[in-house]
Amino acid sequence: MSSVVITGIGELATQAEQGLLTDAAMVIEADRLAWVGPAAQAPPADERVDLGGRAVIPGFVDSHSHLVFAGDRSAEFEARMTGTPYAAGGIRTTVAATREAADEQLAANVARLVAEMHRQGTTHVEIKSGYGLTVVDEARSLAIARRFTDDTTFLGAHVVPQGSDPAAYVDLVTGAMLDAAAPHARWIDVFCERGAFDADQARTILNAGRDKGLKGRLHANQLGEGPGVQLACELGLAAVDHCTFLSDADVDALAESGTVATLLPGVEFSTRQPWPDARRLLDAGVRVALASDCNPGSCYTSSLPFCIAMAVRDMGMSPAEALWSATAGGALALDRDDVGVLDVGRRADFAVLDAPSYVHLAYRPGVPLVEQTWIGGRRAG
Ligand code: NIG
Ligand code: FE
Repeated sequence: MSSVVITGIGELATQAEQGLLTDAAMVIEADRLAWVGPAAQAPPADERVDLGGRAVIPGFVDSHSHLVFAGDRSAEFEARMTGTPYAAGGIRTTVAATREAADEQLAANVARLVAEMHRQGTTHVEIKSGYGLTVVDEARSLAIARRFTDDTTFLGAHVVPQGSDPAAYVDLVTGAMLDAAAPHARWIDVFCERGAFDADQARTILNAGRDKGLKGRLHANQLGEGPGVQLACELGLAAVDHCTFLSDADVDALAESGTVATLLPGVEFSTRQPWPDARRLLDAGVRVALASDCNPGSCYTSSLPFCIAMAVRDMGMSPAEALWSATAGGALALDRDDVGVLDVGRRADFAVLDAPSYVHLAYRPGVPLVEQTWIGGRRAG
């Protein structure tokens, strides 16, 4: 098996036991890391790549995105910026456009956004359905998402579609829609929020998904306090996402359960909502992930560097905490032990920064610092 040594790494933020190394090297064999450590001790390899002192970080693990959609909601964003509040009902606009789009049109849009993510250092992404909301449209959304990732999430319970009876729709989601979606999905998700699905409905849907082999996750506490976070903790879900409005009891439940709180600051940026309080969560011992929530409505960014900059500037995270949350934290939120950390045996997924340190991700907001992205031991951008 041929090997490659990546050397000349000025700073290597491993997120593993070795911590932050200076003047480091990594050896890649096939798609995995075979060795990580100080450059002076690097074993010989068949090929050598010298990064000239640049910083290397694990590829970002974006544990929350909605990339299967058609249409544009820039007018809705524009109205928001002049005072119209965000309402989950906008989801139905995208549902109408997505149902009309051909498979290849949807797939091309996902490919474009995944390529955009790669250019910004993301090497693994979770992709949800949720803009189809019929049996056929949810199943095809997931089949398309599956072409790009093995972390696909069935979100038939995004909103109740226009004209549907809520109870009948929950029956559909837990019946024929779940049957059609399950073969293409690893996860099941529910938008548990006033105006979407309540805690009883969410529990019913998550339990039905579990019976079909899907692991649960939730959208919760985005627009106000509610029961979603505590439900996620009670059910032992891997992650609960948004967590913008939290009571003290929510924070305690997160700390006790180990459920990852995934914060999505691009949403607060794009909806002018208050920032989630990452510091409060971290100080309570909660495991925090950062993800993009890339979607055409509440947040149309695909950039984890941008999310890190917001988390550091406005949510009380240190640059080191924010980097962990966007890499190893994302992997935890997706219950994966192969990505998010640069250590022997992990996937050789990493980003090379045109900067001497990962700190520049927050220090130089808006600057495209990702010079190279490697996925499975190969350059992807
Ligand atoms: O994660 N919260 C629900 N779903 C998306 C918003 C989708 C939309 O507005 O189209 C979110 O923010
Ligand atoms: Fe979302």
